[in-house]
Amino acid sequence: MTRYAHVTGWGSVLPEHVMTNKDLEQMVDTSDEWIVSRTGIRERRIASPDQSTASLAADAASQALKTAGVHPTEVDLIIVATSSPEHIFPATACIVQDMLGATKAGAFDLSAACTGFIFALNMAAQAIRTGSIDTALVIGAETLSRIVNWQDRNTCILFGDGAGAFVLQGSNEPGGVLEAVMHADGSGADVLMLPAGGSKIPTSPDTVAHGLHYVYMEGRPVFRFATRVMAEAAREVVEKAGLSLEDIQWIIPHQANIRILEVAARHLKLPMERFVVNLDRYGNTSTASIPIATTEAAAQGKLHPGDKVVLVGFGGGLTYGAALLEWTGPFPGHPEVNPERYRLWARVRSAGLRLRRKVLAAAGREQRLGG
Ligand SMILES: CC(C)(COP(=O)(O)OP(=O)(O)OC[C@H]1O[C@@H](n2cnc3c(N)ncnc32)[C@H](O)[C@@H]1OP(=O)(O)O)[C@@H](O)C(=O)NCCC(=O)NCCS
Repeated sequence: MTRYAHVTGWGSVLPEHVMTNKDLEQMVDTSDEWIVSRTGIRERRIASPDQSTASLAADAASQALKTAGVHPTEVDLIIVATSSPEHIFPATACIVQDMLGATKAGAFDLSAACTGFIFALNMAAQAIRTGSIDTALVIGAETLSRIVNWQDRNTCILFGDGAGAFVLQGSNEPGGVLEAVMHADGSGADVLMLPAGGSKIPTSPDTVAHGLHYVYMEGRPVFRFATRVMAEAAREVVEKAGLSLEDIQWIIPHQANIRILEVAARHLKLPMERFVVNLDRYGNTSTASIPIATTEAAAQGKLHPGDKVVLVGFGGGLTYGAALLEWTGPFPGHPEVNPERYRLWARVRSAGLRLRRKVLAAAGREQRLGG
């Protein structure tokens, strides 16, 4: 029997602190007028010191689970797409798994910069379609404010923090993630990157002195790439599904720059009204931008069961891709769950496991000393 992967839950979180373009005027040589006219961005959110990529991810995931009526212990797989992971390893997804108390879930991070959410969505949908798993959490989460150089006006005006999540569930009913396309062009790896801190350029006093631990971007080539591939990927995914652009109710794009979206809309011959846009308020939140925009569109009543929606993204790598969804909404008769409250239990469980590990380690030490 053919299996389908439906989006049955969604959620997002945005840090409370708002940083406006006026605030940026105090930090670098820029102006509100320049930023708005070149990007469309007016303000972005900045994570507080007690928030991290994992905590934002877990908050968005809890909301998505609540919408879907899925208990954390029912989740088979957690994929966190992120460009600002907590560490190189372990995966941020493992920390999220522990925070949620998703005891059964496998968890890994997916690194494809701003296209990461599209790739992660496709991977989770494929795992459901093959029957390998039944329930997945796909999360895009970022604290880009921690890896942006606040003295570099080329980059710091663009980015913001936040997280968004989808719950995917398997069903024999047609719908859900219908098609996806994924592409990469690694010849452009050097135009958008975090140069140091990996194995090629390990962190050293020198890398810090030269600011190589911050996002580096050449804006123009990225702009040219983005305007070319957005329309291309959207068209490709629709054609792959045997549909045409007239069948599509909504385009939910990666929220990088309003000018990029306007060029894509022109190429696709679609009015801007068919695009979900919120970059004016949140800036570019990388992997989180598409699920945040989707959650907002759902909350505004824009998405109805049966609607065909194209999610389309591009970013460092260079990567780009698109997914075509038939919007489902929560499965009928889904139970009431409270994943937020369950996280208290997850904390107790985690503390217990840590304690047990410490006790076993101490016992092992004593045994070795005694032996
Ligand atoms: C970054 C971006 C907005 C810059 O716009 P642009 O029109 O290409 O501007 P340029 O980089 O050519 O710079 C034009 C001028 O503005 C200046 N400038 C750059 N950033 C500025 C800022 N924040 N405020 C004021 N002036 C700025 C430049 O120094 C340059 O000055 P010059 O002409 O005296 O040399 C644009 O290239 C872009 O959006 N690129 C894509 C970035 C992106 O989306 N990245 C994420 C992908 S997921």
